[in-house]
Amino acid sequence: MLTSRDMQAQGNSTNILGIETSCDETAAAVVKDGQIIKSSIIASQTKLHEKYGGVVPEIASRAHIENIYPVISDAMEKAQVGKKDIDAIAVANQPGLTIALVVGVTAAKTLAFMWDKPLIAINHLHAHLQSALLENNNIELPAAALIVSGGHTSLYDYRSPLEPRLLGATIDDAAGEAFDKVATILKLSYPGGPSIEKIAKNGDPNAIKFPRSMLSRDSLDFSFSGVKTAVLYYCRGQDMKGEDKVDVMNEQEIADIAASFQAAVINVLVKKTQRAAKKIGAKTVLLGGGVAANSELRSTLRQMCESARPPLKLLTAPKKYCTDNAVMVAALAYHKYRGGLFAELSLEPKPSA
Ligand code: KG4
Ligand code: ZN
Repeated sequence: MLTSRDMQAQGNSTNILGIETSCDETAAAVVKDGQIIKSSIIASQTKLHEKYGGVVPEIASRAHIENIYPVISDAMEKAQVGKKDIDAIAVANQPGLTIALVVGVTAAKTLAFMWDKPLIAINHLHAHLQSALLENNNIELPAAALIVSGGHTSLYDYRSPLEPRLLGATIDDAAGEAFDKVATILKLSYPGGPSIEKIAKNGDPNAIKFPRSMLSRDSLDFSFSGVKTAVLYYCRGQDMKGEDKVDVMNEQEIADIAASFQAAVINVLVKKTQRAAKKIGAKTVLLGGGVAANSELRSTLRQMCESARPPLKLLTAPKKYCTDNAVMVAALAYHKYRGGLFAELSLEPKPSA
């Protein structure tokens, strides 16, 4: 039997089926050689969770069970591949909601067993990071990598796809979580990130000076619960007993709060990335995760990278691959495939990173 290295040496291409069910998107994709996207199918559950203002794990799990096989077969069909063309099955098995992850993990294990293919376990956060390299993998190392999502906000020292080293992470709310909670306070639609970005375009980012928590001088950790609480107090009063001012605010006032909140979060994200880049002597900055779809964050980070001396090269995930998807899972799995890093069929979901 040929090993993955033999296949590479012979110049054979490698098709990986990726599966992602860590939160509220059921996704499958077929990616060739870690870069060529043959298909990407995402069944979004936004409508199901909308009325709760956040993801309800039980509802997410049930929807994954309904969606997982149609999504996988769509991905295979769209890629025009059959089981004989697939070299490995990759699945995000951590971190995430256990009852959501278990659906993807069980599907991947079943296919790996039935089709007699290697199984590859993927860390969802490392996959987000890999999505920044989808369009350009010509990267000068080391890189400081910022992952900003609904569940995590983390900085990594990136020297290889397989071993990004965690430099810092949020000690309370993730940046995306803060966007979602502030959107709820401002009575904007779910998910909050895109709604805040949209209304903030008409607002003044300097209208209100919300706190920017930098923690200690050298810290590469994040804290976003303070800025979220500051928005809440601004709208409801310190004692939370007064009227909800959002009900009587005009659209301009809401836009100013959204723009000022967004500016505070972005300011911290960019400064900490700059700090991380200096600390590790980075030549490149990588940006991924759902919040990386935010145009203001992308442009502020770009300005920081261009004004650094020497300038830093910025690689960002394409907007459509910032939020959860399976392309990033299959893309990272390619590197594990080449290294022969396969998982056992006893693979389990893990809620933490
Ligand atoms: O990476 P992701 O799809 O899921 C997790 O792994 O958590 O990230 C989802 C998060 C949500 O909090 C959502 O509000 C946020 O990404 N998000 C945004 C934008 N688009 C999505 N935040 C700010 N601006 C956006 N344009
Ligand atoms: Zn994610």
